This record gives sequence, structure tokens and C-alpha cells, in this order.
Amino acid sequence: MGKVVIKYVWEIPVRVTHWINVLCIITLCFTGLYIGSPKTLALNPSQYIMGWTRFLHFVAGYTFTVSVLARIYWAFVGNEYSRWRVFIPWLTSEGRRRMWEVSRWYVFLSRRLPADVGLNAMAATIYLIVFLLYLFMIVTGFALYVQYDPHSFMHALFGWLLPIIPAQWLRLTHHLAMWLLIGFVINHIYSAWLVDIRVKGGVISGIFSGYKSVEE
Ligand code: HEM
Ligand code: HEM
Repeated sequence: MGKVVIKYVWEIPVRVTHWINVLCIITLCFTGLYIGSPKTLALNPSQYIMGWTRFLHFVAGYTFTVSVLARIYWAFVGNEYSRWRVFIPWLTSEGRRRMWEVSRWYVFLSRRLPADVGLNAMAATIYLIVFLLYLFMIVTGFALYVQYDPHSFMHALFGWLLPIIPAQWLRLTHHLAMWLLIGFVINHIYSAWLVDIRVKGGVISGIFSGYKSVEE
């Protein structure tokens, strides 16, 4: 085993946006499921339960959007581990080789987990898809949202989608993409836990503290 050094990998914006997104996504899933399959919970209309649920969905939706935009901005100004380049490893033959190596490890075909300081090539590619899913949720969500006021600024930004994709399709795909995200989260927590155990480098604590221990 080589010398182990402590490295500062995940800067504050990466960590803060990660955990804000987690809180928002949990809120958006629970409120979204209720919006999609409403039950009568109120004893009297002044309790305004669907109103508050939708309000919460929109507050979390706006917060999520600001956080995702902040993370995209950080992909252009942050350190080498959070740059946009990290998320497209499959464009080079070296990156494809790294993807292949780590995939073999994930499916138990190889015992050797390649050492990466930042993201491994497979995780990075999956996160790219997750960020595209985030953008998809934002675009379809706001297109649905702006229907309430065709003269608003937000309608000018997102309303053009409505004549192209009928609202019912937007709702259906907005709903289906939620399940893709939930599927990712289940695998994500499993993978983070697995790698944390195998690497013994504090992978999970890294997304709280920013630091990881890596072999030189
Ligand atoms: C709604 C739940 C979650 C979602 C959608 C999510 C999504 C993501 C995404 C997109 C990244 C890439 C971050 C970036 O580069 O900005 C990431 C990184 C990370 N997440 Fe999560 N995450 C969730 C929950 C968790 C939880 C509960 C843990 C801890 C067990 C965790 C551990 C990590 C770690 C350690 C990283 C660092 C990158 C790596 O080593 O792969 N995440 N997550
Ligand atoms: C991870 C992010 C998100 C998740 C998991 C999510 C989930 C959901 C779900 C499950 C529904 C119900 C769809 C149905 O079955 O009919 C819904 C509806 C909706 N969502 Fe989202 N959503 C997210 C992000 C957003 C964002 C960013 C916005 C923007 C404001 C938004 C706005 C809406 C609107 C306007 C509706 C329809 C509300 C209604 O018809 O009363 N969502 N969402």
C-alpha cells in the first residue's frame, strides 16, 4: 500500500448543492406523488391541503432549480474534480478504458477497483445522465407551472413547450422521470456505501467534509 494523503476534493458549492438537491428531491417526490394521486384528507376546505402541497412542490422546485444552476456554473469555475470535463470521460479512449475497468469491478468481474481521486469514470457518466434528468424535471415542471398565467415572465421562458408537448404528456413524463431518479438514488446509496467500504478512504464523509484520503 502506498502513502496515504488527505486531499481536499469536493468544494463547498459541490457539497451544499448536493445536500440541497437531496432535501428538495425528497420533498418533490412526496408532494408530487400526492399531487398525482390526490386523496381527500381535509375535514374542511379551509385546510387547503392540495393548495399547500402544490405550494411546497413549487417552493422546492424553485430552490432545486437555483441549486442545479449554481452547480452548473461551478462546473466552469470549480476545481479539476468538479469541472464539466469530468462528466464526459467516454469522449476519449483513455476515459472509455477507465469506464470499462470500473464497470468490471462493479459487476464482480475484476477484484481491482481502479484508484481515482475524484469521480470514477462510470459514476461521472451516470451523474451526467442525472443532471440531464434534473434539467428535464425543471423544464417539464415549469412548463406545467406557467399555465396559470400566460402573461408571466416564466411563461415567456417555458410556455413555448405547451403547444409542442400537450400538458398531459408533460405530466406523464415528469412523473415517469421521477421513478428513474428514485431508481438512481437506490443504486447511488448502495454504490457509495460499497466503495466506501472497499476504499476505506471516507468516500461518504467526503461529500460532507470535502476531504478524502487517497493513496499516492
Ligand atoms: C436524493 C438523493 C440523492 C441524489 C439525487 C444524489 C445525487 C448525486 C449527484 C448528482 C452527485 C454528483 C455531485 C456533483 O458532482 O455535483 C452525487 C455525489 C455524491 N453523493 Fe449523492 N445523491 C443523493 C443522496 C446521497 C446520499 C444519501 C449519500 C450518502 C450515502 C450520497 C453520497 C454521495 C457521494 C459520496 C458523492 C460524491 C461523489 C462520488 O464519490 O461518487 N448521496 N450525488
Ligand atoms: C426532482 C424533481 C421533481 C420531482 C420528483 C417531481 C415530481 C412530480 C410529480 C410526481 C408530479 C405529479 C404528476 C402526475 O402524476 O400528474 C408533479 C407535478 C408537478 N410538478 Fe413536479 N417534480 C419535480 C420538479 C418540479 C419542478 C422543478 C417544478 C417547477 C416548478 C415542478 C412543477 C410541477 C407542476 C406544476 C406539477 C403539476 C401540478 C398540478 O397539476 O397541480 N416539479 N411533480
